[in-house]
Amino acid sequence: MSLDVDVEEFRKSLYKASDLIVELYSDIENKKVFCGKSENEVRELFEEELPINGINLDKLLETTIKDVFSTATLNTSPNYMAYVSSAGTYAGIVAELLCSALNQNCSKWHCSPAGSEIERVIIEWIAKFIGYPSTFGSLVSGGTAANMSCLAACRKIKAPLDVSKDGLKAGPQLTFYTSTEAHSCVEKSIDSLGIGKKNLRKISVKEDFTIDVKKLEEQIILDRNQGYYPVCIIANAGTVNTGAVDPLDIIAEVCKKYNLWFHIDAAYGGPAAGTKLVKHLFKGIEKADSVALDPHKWFYVPIEAGCALVKDIQSLKATFSILPDYLKLDTEKFHRFEFMEHTFQLSRSFRALKIYMTFKAYGAEGLRKSIEENILIMKYLEELIKQSDDFELLAPVTLSTVCFRYKTNDKNLQKNESYLSMLNKEILDMVEKDGRIFVAGTIINGKTAIRVCCVNHRAKKQHIDKLISILREIGRNATLVKSI
Ligand SMILES: Cc1ncc(COP(=O)(O)O)c(C=O)c1O
Repeated sequence: MSLDVDVEEFRKSLYKASDLIVELYSDIENKKVFCGKSENEVRELFEEELPINGINLDKLLETTIKDVFSTATLNTSPNYMAYVSSAGTYAGIVAELLCSALNQNCSKWHCSPAGSEIERVIIEWIAKFIGYPSTFGSLVSGGTAANMSCLAACRKIKAPLDVSKDGLKAGPQLTFYTSTEAHSCVEKSIDSLGIGKKNLRKISVKEDFTIDVKKLEEQIILDRNQGYYPVCIIANAGTVNTGAVDPLDIIAEVCKKYNLWFHIDAAYGGPAAGTKLVKHLFKGIEKADSVALDPHKWFYVPIEAGCALVKDIQSLKATFSILPDYLKLDTEKFHRFEFMEHTFQLSRSFRALKIYMTFKAYGAEGLRKSIEENILIMKYLEELIKQSDDFELLAPVTLSTVCFRYKTNDKNLQKNESYLSMLNKEILDMVEKDGRIFVAGTIINGKTAIRVCCVNHRAKKQHIDKLISILREIGRNATLVKSI
């Protein structure tokens, strides 16, 4: 049975969906970022028995889908400055619509000729934008998958045995190195790759939250002497917590000295390497064996879009290529570039289209200016905090992340660490409930912090003023509640 409706009815539904989208974006900055509803309240909106008979699309858009829109967290809003999550672009939205209409499966070249060629092109553009000399890689769902893909390739290439055939047990214990500030997905990858979490050495950081290279080198030497097999250093180019960028150039030298794979987690910070403002921080990125980078973060592409870049094209292929009979006949005959051989996934969406359309619609220059503006307004926030009596900066501001806390105007309360932690936790809860702005929380040197991260091309200076004024208002109210 065909599930299609009459084409005119389909057109009406598409128009209706477009109207919903345009309505969502009109006056977006004055809409609440968070709906303020409880888990139960949202669950009740959608919980129902398995629908036996369908309803028409038009009706569906008027009912349930309206509830999806009204309870969605608006990371598209300029007042969303929490997790490293892009605000999306209009070009990206249109691309997503086209992408689902085309329904390409970007596994094999002949299943998506344009998809394959566009993916190759945008990987080249991304590499060029950040100053990475290689143009090989593949698109994956996000930063977690990109880091995992690169580390899987590293394990395959650098382990002194055939990991695919014999497994890890047949060889010496591999060790990987990163800083205590690395994203949790690094640990998740190490775990999933069978390395063992304890064999990921988390090296302490300096005051600016960059890895202590002296300690890193000492640990590598110690491990070697104790019979471990050091394999890889995972540097951070924009830590999730504070935006710190490790000294890439120096780490590249350490990798060279000890014959280690040099991987960079640039999932967040990578695009900033293409700016004039902070390009210098990324010196050495060109020396990496692999780089994880997320277009769905600071290239503003709608979620999901991650990218694994590698210097040696064979490394991903050696890791992921398996050609069973049902996939190999045309592959062996034509020798076309098959993305399925370079990724863990087989069936893959046409992610490249939204990145392609974003780059084409705004140009490298438009993206660069937006990234720089994000950095500058975060510098502005840093200044506001430094000049205030009631806020305190908790970490240096490197890219577009600011970690700080509300500390009241009361000199006695300002000295009470446990009170300040309690107060800032309360503020974070109140900000979520209030819904006008959306920020995240973290812990910096044991202190509860408000963490603001801007990868949002819609955010301007006025939104920083609004953010500070709302945090101050909520901070004062929370002070009253907490001191009762
Ligand atoms: C530095 C860093 N690496 C990796 C990730 C994971 O990316 P994703 O959420 O796309 O899987 C993040 C997410 O914020 C990140 O900031």
